[in-house]
Amino acid sequence: MKSPIENKPLEKPPRAEKRFSVAPMMDWTDRHYRFLARQLSKRAVLYTEMIHARAIVHGDRSRFLDFHPEESPVVLQLGGNEPEYLAEAARWAERWGYSEINLNCGCPSEKVASGSFGACLMADPGHVARLVETMKKAVSIPVTVKSRIGIEARGMNPLSDYEHLRRFTATMVEAGCDRLIVHARIAVLGGLNPAENRTVPPLRYEDVYRLKDEFPELPVELNGGLREIAAIQKHLNGPLDGVMVGRAAYETPRILLYVDDIMNEVDAGMHSLGQSSPEKHSGVDWTPGPSFGGQNTEDWRQATGDMRAVRELERLSGPLQRMGDYIVSMREEGVPAARITRHLLGLFHGLPGAKRFRQTLSGNQVKQLNDMDDLDGFLRQFFAETLQIAAGESAEAMRRPSAV
Ligand SMILES: Cc1cc2nc3c(=O)[nH]c(=O)nc-3n(C[C@H](O)[C@H](O)[C@H](O)COP(=O)(O)O)c2cc1C
Repeated sequence: MKSPIENKPLEKPPRAEKRFSVAPMMDWTDRHYRFLARQLSKRAVLYTEMIHARAIVHGDRSRFLDFHPEESPVVLQLGGNEPEYLAEAARWAERWGYSEINLNCGCPSEKVASGSFGACLMADPGHVARLVETMKKAVSIPVTVKSRIGIEARGMNPLSDYEHLRRFTATMVEAGCDRLIVHARIAVLGGLNPAENRTVPPLRYEDVYRLKDEFPELPVELNGGLREIAAIQKHLNGPLDGVMVGRAAYETPRILLYVDDIMNEVDAGMHSLGQSSPEKHSGVDWTPGPSFGGQNTEDWRQATGDMRAVRELERLSGPLQRMGDYIVSMREEGVPAARITRHLLGLFHGLPGAKRFRQTLSGNQVKQLNDMDDLDGFLRQFFAETLQIAAGESAEAMRRPSAV
């Protein structure tokens, strides 16, 4: 594992203000997923899972904070409601090489609410302001907040109208919050479980746009339900400062292959003021805008066209090779292969060979990888075959010597 010193110096977050971020997701965006994500995009801003400030102050810091230098820039998301703990955790994070601190004001789970942090903090903007101010005094890296558009809970007046969001935001601006990331749904506390809280309350993107309009100086990032490249481009080319994508980036990591092109084009202002249309850029066929949610193979092929698939697969070859090296080197540090391969399972989602790929890298089969003498050789061969199958090559071609 890397010490804090070895993790430095790290890159700063991308210079351009506009951002594409991969959302913090408990159990999903651990360091191994982030390493994969970084192989697919150099420009995506990556987040940790939420970590409670007390765990960092009292717990095994190495376990919670270590990351590979290649993952940078990484934002540490903190949970908690005690200013001193949050400030101390933020200090540790800065020493460890994190680029930013983000405070969780959006998680609706009962466990979190019973500890009075996460989304229920939105009921007390003044307290959140104190938390932000205290962390800002403790560190020189940016301190940001991730919230919902509002909250509702039994026995409490609903705080789910735009007015409350506006008041919450005004208080954050006064506290010096460097960026607000808004999941554009309310959180229903006590009534819906976390998964339902990500699907049942309707998306209200218009509230987030209105916020940006009223607080032009505050970087505002939109989150929730973004799955299509065309939609992501559209939001990035508008007034907002960024988009944050969660489930789509985990379930179908291939989406990240497009991020650097999109961000370069946004930087170059090529899409602004209607100067050009998305389908003209990067040699990538943007139309029809592919969606990354749950299609079967045939739908995916029809929606995207074979050329798009071929280009994606070409671009996956390098990252897969790096992941193979990473799995081998992590095994030497005692990390079981399954802890890493579980994040790869969606890589071929919707393509021929996806099932075989998933089966080999999960369940009982993946346990055998740990004992393999030539794990490196196996992974190279296996990844090369998967790419070939996905590209629709014949069984005959698969038997030819691997090109990877
Ligand atoms: C498995 C899972 C775990 C999550 N954990 C966190 C978390 O730790 N902190 C947080 O702020 N949001 C968490 N979220 C919410 C996401 O960050 C994001 O706000 C939400 O999924 C909506 O974005 P999406 O529609 O792009 O997925 C989690 C979501 C999922 C699916």
